[in-house]
Amino acid sequence: MSLGAIMDKDTINHKNEPFYTKAKQQGYRARSAYKLFEIQKKYNIFKRSFYILDIGSAPGSWLQVAKKFAEENLTKYQDRHYHREEYKILGVDIKKVSPIEQVDTMKLDITNPSSIIKIQTFLEGEKFDLVLSDASIKKSGNKFSDQVRQVKLCLKILDILYLLKSKGNLVIKLFQGEDFKRVHRAMKAKFHFVKSYKPRASSKKSNEIYIIGLNKK
Ligand SMILES: C[S@@+](CC[C@H](N)C(=O)[O-])C[C@H]1O[C@@H](n2cnc3c(N)ncnc32)[C@H](O)[C@@H]1O
Repeated sequence: MSLGAIMDKDTINHKNEPFYTKAKQQGYRARSAYKLFEIQKKYNIFKRSFYILDIGSAPGSWLQVAKKFAEENLTKYQDRHYHREEYKILGVDIKKVSPIEQVDTMKLDITNPSSIIKIQTFLEGEKFDLVLSDASIKKSGNKFSDQVRQVKLCLKILDILYLLKSKGNLVIKLFQGEDFKRVHRAMKAKFHFVKSYKPRASSKKSNEIYIIGLNKK
């Protein structure tokens, strides 16, 4: 399938934007890839990350980025400290993700309890080193109710952090607004280091923001 057919609508709607051109040239399925690169540059979230869960992964650009770093990590961290012999990446979304070699995907709703059982089966008793969530609710246009729904989704995701190993990292997308502090506080209870960050690649018009949690308690 051609990259054009896979690229997400949001990316295609920004055709005149430098990140759109860059994504197309470099073979990324969405310009969101550059948000994750910026987050990595600032917070080094992929350090020693081999088992990675990407929630809300369609069309798949974060999976492409995750695969790049996980692959590099196999040779980069062959030392006596924490490392794994293989990487495992799972992308989950309510939409289907076109295949990416050596990356697993599942079409599921993360808020559904049966989805968690499927993810646990995938993990075979292990835990993730890194959880990414760029998942976002379908916006209605009402900023207030959209933000409330997005917060609800984020809190559900925070509830499944028993799938993340201790000292693991999380990146989660939120919308700025009233309940932002609620998620920030919940993150503070779970991670030693918590910061919010708006990458340059995130459109100025959008109220999205990412919360980064490092070093899970
Ligand atoms: C902005 S897109 C993600 C883009 C992706 N990070 C990339 O780089 O290609 C947000 C995704 O979240 C997904 N999503 C929203 N709610 C979800 C849920 N409850 N469970 C799983 N995926 C969900 C949507 O279907 C959508 O594909």
